[in-house]
Amino acid sequence: MPASRDHVTTDCLAITGASVARGVDILAHGGLVAFPTETVYGLGGDACNAEAVAAIFAAKERPAFNPLISHVASAKAAFELGTATPIAACLAEAFWPGPMTLILTRRPDCPIALLTSAGLDKIALRVPAHAEARHLLEAFGGPVAAPSANPSGRISPTRAEHVLAGLGGRIELVLDGGPCESGVESTVIDCTGEAAHILRPGGVTRDAVAATLAAQELTLAAEMPSTDENKPASPGQLASHYAPSAPVRLNVTAPEPGMELIGFGETGGAGELGLNLSPKGDLQEAAANLFDMMHAADATGATVIGVAPVPGTGLGEAVNDRLRRAAAPRSL
Ligand code: TXA
Ligand code: MG
Repeated sequence: MPASRDHVTTDCLAITGASVARGVDILAHGGLVAFPTETVYGLGGDACNAEAVAAIFAAKERPAFNPLISHVASAKAAFELGTATPIAACLAEAFWPGPMTLILTRRPDCPIALLTSAGLDKIALRVPAHAEARHLLEAFGGPVAAPSANPSGRISPTRAEHVLAGLGGRIELVLDGGPCESGVESTVIDCTGEAAHILRPGGVTRDAVAATLAAQELTLAAEMPSTDENKPASPGQLASHYAPSAPVRLNVTAPEPGMELIGFGETGGAGELGLNLSPKGDLQEAAANLFDMMHAADATGATVIGVAPVPGTGLGEAVNDRLRRAAAPRSL
């Protein structure tokens, strides 16, 4: 690996057995590899190598107080790193592999670098469902720290092209697996207390989490814990995030001049591209299209990006969470 990461050549290869083997070799030497998951592309580095983790923070220009998710190939591997509470065991059984991240207490012998969890005694773990991502994790054999593969605060990547546009020249390899299937990031759930807390809504809905826990007489806390901007419970929950270059306006039903309007259902798109998250009003389709359409709308050079109203039920909770942050006043 180069001593300085300022001039890294970024290769982009279709994800195959051979390119995964190359990725494993890069990870083992402390380098950075972006790879597809079912939610968004992740920017991977060896979670147990503090220098590799520092390189992730540097490549993304991510604030060091915002901890990273470690990805592993199985629930068994996850529970060797963090303590399995009854809540965690129940959720892992129901939703792993899949778009869910569990916050667990770090086990005393856990080799994950402290920098990965930003010094917290809790760690974030996820078993992704993407077949090739799991091949990478199995072949690497240890936890891979991977935030979304975008510069900090910007729109998350759902295609290899998005990763290259944001991080090209800063990482060694992008494994191209085509567009991501589910499109919004994992649901982050703190499992360390008496009740489960959803810290970030995501690909597994609140209703599904609540029903699964209730079936085993376990509890989901009703509300998200309040987030203190200076030291949030889940530090990724900062108000401004997922931001395109152009300002974003929500709940738009009639476009203004110069606006690229991203439609939903019967509120059609307008502007150069006439984008619509889901003409038939399907929230899963909307989640899968969300970041891609925000990237596309931003690339038009529109002076403002509008988004039609999207219902807040089911996956709509995660979609609206991302939209609110994209539209929030910029702190960056
Ligand atoms: O779907 C996903 O989760 C994607 C793919 C690549 O797996 N990853 C992702 O990572 O979205 P990132 O870094 O963009 O978001 C991780 C979220 C942040 O909100 C972070 O604050 C939270 O997880 N998090 C990580 N470790 C935590 C911890 N120990 N305690 C509380 N929140 C934590
Ligand atoms: Mg992110």
